[in-house]
Amino acid sequence: MRRLGLIGFSGSGKSSLAAFASKNGFKTVDSDSLIEAEDPTAFELLENGREDDFRTLETSVISGILKSDFDLAAFGGGVHFAHPAWKEIYESPLKLVYLRSSFENLAGRSEERPLCKKLGPEGYEKLFRSRCPLYEKAAAFIVETDGRGLSEIWSEIEEIWNSLFQ
Ligand code: S3P
Repeated sequence: MRRLGLIGFSGSGKSSLAAFASKNGFKTVDSDSLIEAEDPTAFELLENGREDDFRTLETSVISGILKSDFDLAAFGGGVHFAHPAWKEIYESPLKLVYLRSSFENLAGRSEERPLCKKLGPEGYEKLFRSRCPLYEKAAAFIVETDGRGLSEIWSEIEEIWNSLFQ
């Protein structure tokens, strides 16, 4: 089965790359969009200290994704080696690509992210540092994103795709 999944911290470009891939003929899926479609208030759970409930919903959405037909999936920033869905992801025919970014170069306003609102800026950076090794452990490939545009990053992902599947 030919499939890749994108992981990495919020703002590393997973959803933008999936949108880019979709324009290039890849069948893509985005776990955050599916979570929102299922429960538009789901992300508030993170702000309200109910992360376990959010992860349970996220795990069920990921389970559905893994059973569906897609080429490239963009996962939320909580997906890594210690996520509750990890075993299912690991046992599925899916290779993960970690979009590695420095904290300083993560796009967007992190203060608006639900976990940043909950943890505060220092706690959010601490979360980032604690997750980096977990993304590395989960990933089959690491793609650097600092200082690179979407199309350059996408070319590297396409090379990975071609090396695996063509
Ligand atoms: C999360 C990242 C978000 C979203 C949710 C939780 C996290 O996804 O799934 O707010 O745990 O870091 P993005 O990485 O797409 O922002």
